[in-house]
Amino acid sequence: MPPENAVPDTAARSLAHWSEEGRREMEAFYALARLDYQLLADALDYPELFRVVRERAGGGAVSLLDVACGSGKFPETLLERTELAAQDDLRVDYDLLDPAPFSLQEAAAVLRPPFHEAARHEVTMEDLDPAVGPFDVVWATHALYALQPENVDAAARRMLDALAPHGVLLLAQGAYDGHYLAFYRAFLEGVRGGEGTAYVSCEQLTDALGRVGADDTHEVEVRRISYEHVVADDDREVLEGFLQRCAFDDTVSLEQMREAPVLGAYLEACHDADAGVHRFRQETDLVLLTPNDGTPA
Ligand SMILES: C[S@@+](CC[C@H](N)C(=O)[O-])C[C@H]1O[C@@H](n2cnc3c(N)ncnc32)[C@H](O)[C@@H]1O
Repeated sequence: MPPENAVPDTAARSLAHWSEEGRREMEAFYALARLDYQLLADALDYPELFRVVRERAGGGAVSLLDVACGSGKFPETLLERTELAAQDDLRVDYDLLDPAPFSLQEAAAVLRPPFHEAARHEVTMEDLDPAVGPFDVVWATHALYALQPENVDAAARRMLDALAPHGVLLLAQGAYDGHYLAFYRAFLEGVRGGEGTAYVSCEQLTDALGRVGADDTHEVEVRRISYEHVVADDDREVLEGFLQRCAFDDTVSLEQMREAPVLGAYLEACHDADAGVHRFRQETDLVLLTPNDGTPA
């Protein structure tokens, strides 16, 4: 049993922050993190991806599972930045999955044609009812950071099982060396004395997909997207709010982070004093699984 005053671990803090009480912090975070989704939206030809999947499925509506849908930034950004909204002949029956009811509600509210809400699953990926699926498309974008390490293989297996034989899986998540993972490791080390569970990296998820058999049935293509989140030093509210959300912890101020061992050095290394900005280097992997019988992506 953890002591009564123990700080809740990563998965519990993630769940608590995906809530109405966490809205202000979430909005500060997306002032910068919106870029994560813009780059993903620009990285692939989504109308073509849906066209190919629909053809392979034999026509009709495309079924899709959005894993860890969060507040729906990915579908919202696709609707803003791609030609998907103009595809009059495309219908996507869109299932939302998330353990947080707040996230399900927020994501449902952004869906517009061709995305039509089909079902909500208030559950973790690893616990999704085996009877749900299969889907033509499964995607999980900046989604599974807070998975408990012992559940990574189960979540990977369930995602793979949720795919129709002709289906496509799209995964996008920070890599081990990118800011989200590196910052949180430094936070746990410097602020929490090494206690707590680090975020799951895209490499861990991709390895897990291989362990549960994806390499036998699918082509696995990994594309690295490298970029920076840049925030002006005098934009203190965004800087602090972004970093607090990166750790799901708004009890530690920017000053406390700067003074902490390990984390202080990490933040100093991100500081470009000449330009008066902080630069947070992101390394995101976009992983595409397509059936290895030649289906193009
Ligand atoms: C950063 S958000 C995902 C963003 C989302 N893809 C978007 O388009 O905005 C992370 C979400 O993962 C959810 N989550 C945490 N643990 C999970 C798990 N084990 N399985 C599924 N979802 C989980 C959280 O509740 C949160 O809503």
